[in-house]
Amino acid sequence: MKPVTLDTIVSLAKRRGFVFQSSEIYGGLNGCWDYGSLGVELLRNLKDAWWKAMTYRDDIEGVDASILMHPRVWEASGHVANFTDPMIDNKTSKARYRADTLIEDYIAKLEKNGKTDRAKAVADRLAAAREPEDFYQIIVDEEITDPVGGSKDWTPVRYFNLMFKTFVGPVEDTNSVVYLRPETAQGIFVNFRNVLDSARQKIPFGIAQIGKAFRNEINTKYFLFRTREFEQMEMQYFVKPGTHPEQFEYWREQRFQWFLDLGMSPDSIRFKPHDKLAHYADAAVDIEYKFPFGWGEIEGIHSRTNFDLGRHEEYSGKKLEFVDTVTRDRFVPYVIETSVGASRSFMAFLCHAYNVENVGAADGGEDAERTVLKFHPKLAPVKAAVLPLVKKDGMPEFADKLYRDLQKSFSVQYDESAAVGRRYRRQDEIGTPFCITIDGESLQDNTVTIRERDTMQQIRVSADTVKEYVMKSLI
Ligand code: GAP
Repeated sequence: MKPVTLDTIVSLAKRRGFVFQSSEIYGGLNGCWDYGSLGVELLRNLKDAWWKAMTYRDDIEGVDASILMHPRVWEASGHVANFTDPMIDNKTSKARYRADTLIEDYIAKLEKNGKTDRAKAVADRLAAAREPEDFYQIIVDEEITDPVGGSKDWTPVRYFNLMFKTFVGPVEDTNSVVYLRPETAQGIFVNFRNVLDSARQKIPFGIAQIGKAFRNEINTKYFLFRTREFEQMEMQYFVKPGTHPEQFEYWREQRFQWFLDLGMSPDSIRFKPHDKLAHYADAAVDIEYKFPFGWGEIEGIHSRTNFDLGRHEEYSGKKLEFVDTVTRDRFVPYVIETSVGASRSFMAFLCHAYNVENVGAADGGEDAERTVLKFHPKLAPVKAAVLPLVKKDGMPEFADKLYRDLQKSFSVQYDESAAVGRRYRRQDEIGTPFCITIDGESLQDNTVTIRERDTMQQIRVSADTVKEYVMKSLI
């Protein structure tokens, strides 16, 4: 099978209604995407799977905090001072880049050309770079050229804050500045006390949230991978200091397993330890997926110490400690964070599901090749398709009745146009796990065939058992 390219995925996503460019009729808005009818189902299913795995347990509570928060939150979290990327412009082409990404791409090129020692030396310098001048000097020393026009005429490097600013109320002055949240995590930290008290939890316990986050990325990249508006699914697990290494291990395994349980293969995801830790973290690992363009982070698991709660205590003046009523111990909890992009992992699951197979004339189809999205049934946007074999002899009426009944429980499509083989192909291409065909026999003995997407095997069952059959695959 030919390796899949990102262009193939983007074009299928558009053609079949998974993802469209935002404001497309106006030429699009860079770094923003819209989910179509199938995309919104896939995204919801993905978020549902995460929500169930993370909050349907005794020790984790959900929240849904507002996107706009008190501006002091972002001072306390360090985002106002530090949530920056180094930016550089090329004077000739006027193209703008993240200086670190420019250097990373250069390192990758050195590696590809077998210059591993040189690549390592530049990577070490990049890892140590802190000030804008550090990045600039690497670019100048290595004579890195502009990928657009090849020029070496660069501006100095400047730090650029990624938070989107807006104003509350009618007056646009510095007192009314608020930010669109760049992560959902802070909405969890500031609600630590509220949830602890209202849900009557004890340490260790967690708070989970799914929601939009916004980052004014210098360069957006690779479809849904790096966008300016995206969704995160984050969980902060509050633990007693000292127990955090073992909790970190627990959560990294749990999160890896979650991807496997939803159909990722063990060779398509991997752990990637962080080369340099953020100042507040004492351990961090990413889960990466092998995208068509290479390995890329889909989730970060961080041991964040008591940095966030400590800072919010300091900035708000409110105590954010846990008091053990039995031992009278009091402490500011340490936090293990699991943070996964809903939109980025949506793209990973879409890429992973994509297959082109040679199936010959099997399966009633006329094409030797089929494109099939092998989604886990839990994620599949459409769970079943109801297909009357022909448009006569009472089959459409029978099929319609079954279709309406199934629709009460999950998303179903009805399709009576074209040969049944071609209808199977249409469903394969959107990842529908089950096709239910109504034929002449159905009207005599109330049986139908269920054709399974991946094996293309068919079984004959009573029409009354179809719902249960499909539902079983969704548990
Ligand atoms: N609270 C920690 C945090 O936000 P992060 O590594 O910056 O950590 C976590 O982001 C996850 O959010 C990433 O692994 C990725 O899946 C997703 N993410 C971050 N920036 C993104 C962007 N610009 N576009 C799409 N997804 C993004």
